[in-house]
Amino acid sequence: MKTVPANRYSFEQLTEAYNQTRVDYLVPMPMNVARLREYAHVYDVDLTASCVAVEDNTTLGLGMLGVRDQRAWITRLGVLPSGRRKGVGNAIMTALISQAEERNMDEIWLEVIYGNDPAHNMFKKFGFQETRELIVARRPPNLNTAILPPTVKRITALDHEEAIILLSHRKTRPNWLNETESLQNTRNLSALLVELNDGSRGWTAYHGGLLQLTRILVEVIAGDPADVTTACLNVLHQRHKRQDAKTENIFDDAQWPGYQRAGYLESFRRIEMVKKLK
Ligand SMILES: CC(C)(COP(=O)(O)OP(=O)(O)OC[C@H]1O[C@@H](n2cnc3c(N)ncnc32)[C@H](O)[C@@H]1OP(=O)(O)O)[C@@H](O)C(=O)NCCC(=O)NCCS
Repeated sequence: MKTVPANRYSFEQLTEAYNQTRVDYLVPMPMNVARLREYAHVYDVDLTASCVAVEDNTTLGLGMLGVRDQRAWITRLGVLPSGRRKGVGNAIMTALISQAEERNMDEIWLEVIYGNDPAHNMFKKFGFQETRELIVARRPPNLNTAILPPTVKRITALDHEEAIILLSHRKTRPNWLNETESLQNTRNLSALLVELNDGSRGWTAYHGGLLQLTRILVEVIAGDPADVTTACLNVLHQRHKRQDAKTENIFDDAQWPGYQRAGYLESFRRIEMVKKLK
């Protein structure tokens, strides 16, 4: 068995291989070619640093590496069910880590879904340490929450460029999925700056699709974290009554009750992990 750089494969082949590694996955996440392409673009996946594990022309698994400044990120890693527990995962991890080392990276990040013990064990074995717990949450459309909260004083709608400026000034380090680079690579982001009567302020940035709002993030500038989060989200959903909403990799912090009060339900959790190379 050997590992081959993923840029020798087409997106069609990578998509096919990826889907085969996930047939029995905890949370079903099948990809199509367009989505994998978009994923690689948004998250700065470098296919020359990513790899496919093969034996006698048979694909056994794959793993991808995102690269930003001095940071690398392992993603889309998987081994076909028939080939597991034979060292293929080890070989892919070793190849990705040495790619990050060759590129002189400071650290490698990744996430693992809570309860995925095989992967979690593997990452711990390779020296990755847990950093934060991340929440993936959804909100079904709810036409009854359409009333604008009475505490809102002013709402300012912002365009993509203005949203990026707000995002680049966040206080807490976001997870890779929500880093400013990821959002910069996403087209047509919007933001709403919300000021409340008591002087509290915050904003929400999001991507408004026809059926779904995605990449929803809230930042509280002043005031109670949960209250301001709820207010920002109520304003957002008042404007987008019919769309389903999804937020990924937010933190279990003082803002999370504000998401819940706005109708968000936890889908699952991920554990963020890091390995320092220097
Ligand atoms: C996680 C995964 C990639 C491991 O691949 P693999 O080829 O079976 O792994 P290996 O045989 O090389 O084992 C590597 C290490 O993983 C851990 N591991 C693998 N399978 C395990 C299991 N069933 N239970 C506990 N630990 C396990 C062990 O630490 C193992 O090291 P060891 O052999 O020294 O004990 C594979 O199970 C998989 O593709 N799962 C579905 C997709 C997935 O979860 N991807 C990761 C997303 S974050």
